[in-house]
Amino acid sequence: MRGFPDGFLWGVSTSAFQIEGATREGGRGVSVWDTFCATPGKIHTGENADVACDHYHRYAEDIALMSELGVGGYRFSVAWPRVQPSGSGPVNAEGLGFYDSLVDALCEAGIRPVVTLYHWDTPQDLEDAGGWLSRDTAYRFAEYAAIVGERLADRVEHWIPLNEPVVETLYGYALGEYAPGKALLFDAMPAAHFQNLAHGLAVSALRSVNAKSIGSANNHSPIWPATQSAADLEAAEHLGAVANWMYTDPMLLGRYPEQVIQYLPDDFADDLTAIAAPLDFYGVNYYEPQGCAAPGEGNPLPFELRAIEGYPLTTNGSPVVPDGLREFLGQLRTRYEDKLPPIYITESGCSFDGVHDKERIQYLQDHLAALGQALDEGSDVRGYFVWSLLDNFEWSKGYQPRFGLVHVDYCTLARTPKDSFYWYRDLLGGAR
Ligand code: BGC
Repeated sequence: MRGFPDGFLWGVSTSAFQIEGATREGGRGVSVWDTFCATPGKIHTGENADVACDHYHRYAEDIALMSELGVGGYRFSVAWPRVQPSGSGPVNAEGLGFYDSLVDALCEAGIRPVVTLYHWDTPQDLEDAGGWLSRDTAYRFAEYAAIVGERLADRVEHWIPLNEPVVETLYGYALGEYAPGKALLFDAMPAAHFQNLAHGLAVSALRSVNAKSIGSANNHSPIWPATQSAADLEAAEHLGAVANWMYTDPMLLGRYPEQVIQYLPDDFADDLTAIAAPLDFYGVNYYEPQGCAAPGEGNPLPFELRAIEGYPLTTNGSPVVPDGLREFLGQLRTRYEDKLPPIYITESGCSFDGVHDKERIQYLQDHLAALGQALDEGSDVRGYFVWSLLDNFEWSKGYQPRFGLVHVDYCTLARTPKDSFYWYRDLLGGAR
């Protein structure tokens, strides 16, 4: 495999709701995902994340695993309802204390903490007050960012305000497949704008408490039109604006792509300067391309989604397309030129079963080869984080898809490193 630059940050990623468990401990408030899991029919398997991987109690063991793996960085998320149980007002000292101890333990192990402030677990009280459809949530988020920043910025260098606002907007508010379970179609789009605003305000709040390096973790897919017909190309442009550029353009250029302006709140323009607060890095979560075609007769939407065919599938049904990562990084270079900060791949990974997971090894090998090509083509990528350290709660699919380098037995909570864990360890050993 191609060599990666000196100082390249190799890591693993997780998120609070997917691994922590202990949902009713330590003064944690209720999140929209607790509510969603408790609503019959929402999680395909009927499961919830009350225990998950029990990381809340076993974080020392998980850090020991990361030490064995030899990663330089660990990207995790802070649960807003642990820190501010109702999303505003008083801080829950025990909750903030948990992350303080986690950060200390990581630093002691020589692993750089990369903190995401929000990975979809909105405090339920804030959702009840309008959630991401309300501008107010963005202001509450900035206050929360300052609280966490003030406590941890002396030890945490890398900060990410929100994970994948596109997924929260589309799955949570437009389609209703994720919490908070609203199916508003295009009326969901203000949720994207207010998350963008929350991002920008949090960047400024973090700067004011001397956070060193601030970025993003946006989910991106190259959009593949079904044919080169003008209608399919136009549909793909529209979907690309909704799925990719609606987040990147305002953050990096201070404007929205023209296709999405119709979906935004009337006063959106007033927020653009705040959203475009300068970033130190841009985080890309990459899983797969998205196929697209012009809408068929009677379809009121501007595009139709199409499956990508002809590629192997993960157990989660995602096509494995390593070159899509190289392709998307190229699109970022072309679209943003000198406005593009250094990039981190903040998530990349796959669900496959079994401890002898040769498919995952192949997946990682091929994605790193594609990343190496992107570097050769001129992308400035500074790190790569595998999703995920542990098998975990995969949202509405429950515990069935297994994304970990480490297998978790959900009865005993025993952790067993998979073959891919040892493969990654050897790769990192060579990179050191
Ligand atoms: C999310 C993770 C999720 C992963 C695999 C990403 O979009 O950030 O929370 O587990 O995809 O589906």
